[in-house]
Amino acid sequence: MISDESAEPSAPETSSPSRRDLIKLAGAGAVAANSMTPAGAKAEQAAVCDSRSFPRDFLWGTATSAYQIEGAWKEDGKGESIWDRFVHTPGKIRNGDTGDVAIDSYHRYKDDVRQMKALGARAYRFSISWPRIFPRGTGAANAKGLAYYDRLVDELLANGIQPYATLYHWDLPQALQDSVGGWQSAETAKAFADYAGYIGAKLSDRVRHFFTINEFSAFVELGYRTGVFAPGLTLPAGRLNQVRHYAVLGHGLAVQAIRASAKAGTKVGLADNMTAVVPIIETPGNIAAAEHATRELNAGYLTVIMEGRYTEAYLAAAGPDAPKFTAEELRAISSPLDFVGINVYTPVYVLASGQAPGVEVVPLAKSHPHMASSWQAFGPEALYWAPRHVHKIWNVNEIYITENGCGTTDTPAADGVVYDTDRIMFLRSYLSMLQRAVADNVPVRGYFLWSLFDNFEWADGFDTRFGMIRVDFATQKRTPKLSAGYYAEVVKRNAVA
Ligand code: NOJ
Repeated sequence: MISDESAEPSAPETSSPSRRDLIKLAGAGAVAANSMTPAGAKAEQAAVCDSRSFPRDFLWGTATSAYQIEGAWKEDGKGESIWDRFVHTPGKIRNGDTGDVAIDSYHRYKDDVRQMKALGARAYRFSISWPRIFPRGTGAANAKGLAYYDRLVDELLANGIQPYATLYHWDLPQALQDSVGGWQSAETAKAFADYAGYIGAKLSDRVRHFFTINEFSAFVELGYRTGVFAPGLTLPAGRLNQVRHYAVLGHGLAVQAIRASAKAGTKVGLADNMTAVVPIIETPGNIAAAEHATRELNAGYLTVIMEGRYTEAYLAAAGPDAPKFTAEELRAISSPLDFVGINVYTPVYVLASGQAPGVEVVPLAKSHPHMASSWQAFGPEALYWAPRHVHKIWNVNEIYITENGCGTTDTPAADGVVYDTDRIMFLRSYLSMLQRAVADNVPVRGYFLWSLFDNFEWADGFDTRFGMIRVDFATQKRTPKLSAGYYAEVVKRNAVA
């Protein structure tokens, strides 16, 4: 008989494993094996792993960012960030939520590292809060701020977890917004490089991988065009294009600063949410159209970073509003990288077209499935095509998936556990496509699941939950969801589970 277990949260336990047992991280594999003979189990496991596995040294990790988890918004000398200012402005964040306390990771980092360890993940991508280090963006450094990241890095290494640090995950020091208009000025790009160089000098003895900037288009478009993110501006086209330009300039200058200050062998890249263009039907013509669209739809960010020039179509479309730039700036922007990190959540589907520019975006069907955030259409193919395009178009040979995951609106069942079947469905589908990419020799070296914990989801506040580990925001209790058991199994097998 097929039963709908989810309808009976308090079903009595039988001799088969209880649902709580199912999510015990270490036990997940054993549960599967229980249903067959040991030899059969071994053979089946091997077969499964062979066809769905990842390269032997593939790096499995998790990701978070400072403002979304740390809290302690004005402790130990930290300066105010544009997000501190924004969340304290009435009407900006759903339910009036703030990251003042967030999930209190500033104080609970040791427990949080323990949670990562239980998953078996070998890497952790976190971000450094610029205003903790330079409370006013420039000037004297705040030793207590740096000391926090020293402690975190040491704790990670002591637990066998490699630290991967992002330098800018959107929490710009408010003082720079007030004095020069934030990313509207080249001064901010220069200040960012100074801060990056400082961190490179202080942490590169232990942190071997740095990401300059996280998701250019998210903080620029939402922060300076639509105004739904900090600093909440709605700039006209010309000034917006200049912000885009100074954001990529900040990245390039930071790459140079880290190279100048960090220990030899330190690797530098970025974590960009490139538009992930998917040929909806995989024909040679549609694939070529998708490659063309990838360059154009990312022209203001990843394309200029990789190619050192704005595409002709980008400049023509901007016309008199095109950014003002120098050849020297373009050289800085395209400073060679050691790797490219991409955050992949959702696809843009295309078809080749007989009309210029030779490609058309296919609108999503009304009933196209999406995850809890309205922007997140379900499209696992994005995790195949995005890294494949980066490799093919720009010949990048070290790629990380720096974020992938989904938001859900889950609630715990009667036994306290969140059975997030939607997240598991999402992860299995996307990871299957990532496995297709590595099987096709696309050089993806690692994957960071967003997110380790439920956290502050920017303008959506705490409503949309991206974590594998549930956080009760009132008590700060952490409880692994069913998906944490799933991910632990993926990591353990080094294969799609
Ligand atoms: C990307 C951002 O980097 C991260 O901060 C955010 O929480 C996730 N997307 C989900 O929206």
